[in-house]
Amino acid sequence: MSFKDKIDLDNLPQHIAIIMDGNGRWARQKRKPRTFGHKHGVTSVREATETAAELGVKYLTLYAFSTENWKRPKFEIDALMHLLLQSIRTETTKLNKNNIRLNTIGDIESLPVAIRKSLKDAIEQTSGNTRMTLTLALSYSARWEIIQATKNIVREIQQTRLSAEEINESVFSSFLNTGSMPDPELLIRTSSDFRISNFLLWQIAYTELYFSPKFWPDFRKEDLYEAIFDFQQRERRFGKTGEQILKDGIND
Ligand code: FPP
Repeated sequence: MSFKDKIDLDNLPQHIAIIMDGNGRWARQKRKPRTFGHKHGVTSVREATETAAELGVKYLTLYAFSTENWKRPKFEIDALMHLLLQSIRTETTKLNKNNIRLNTIGDIESLPVAIRKSLKDAIEQTSGNTRMTLTLALSYSARWEIIQATKNIVREIQQTRLSAEEINESVFSSFLNTGSMPDPELLIRTSSDFRISNFLLWQIAYTELYFSPKFWPDFRKEDLYEAIFDFQQRERRFGKTGEQILKDGIND
């Protein structure tokens, strides 16, 4: 029996975030270059995106390139950028067909101009889609994002459009790259590393974490179903007691 049949469609996470890890190790196991792993990782990106949208998940956020990834060898960075460019160009039609909107978070200005341009085009072309928002985190790190938000808040205060007293969690959240999205309820990381690696640090305060032993290029539909099923078995208490949750029947 597939985990898909066990999923409660009325209790889906609205927003799933994924740290796609293990492309390099997957390739090494096959005695291939790391870039071979990235190439196969694109198939998993497509499958996770289509699977999440088919189920009814509203937001899928993928950690595709971190601020720290700029420290990798130039050859690997170039290959990743090439793959990204190719994927944006070829996948936009499919995103439209599936009614999926493309979005990005991160320091997009630091990306090569050709990627910025094709991202801009793809974002525009998919902007009217409503089934799911696919967000690619590119040249992203959570500490970078929090610092940008802080700088923007300070500017607003200097220009007297905001006062320090008005700052609360929801105001701060609205200054983050993810300002228009709900926080993820489920964060998946593949390849048996138990780290967050500077991803969505503010947004995951109450997120359920799920670690898959699969390397990202091996992560298939069924693995996503399993992660969602596992999420649905958990009791989310948000600081309350289990008894309070049972009594209130409220899961927030
Ligand atoms: C982590 O594996 C993966 C990445 C740094 C890049 C992810 C990119 C893709 C899946 C392809 C392009 C993406 C899109 C959105 C089209 P790793 O290299 O850190 O693997 P390792 O930990 O085994 O070395």
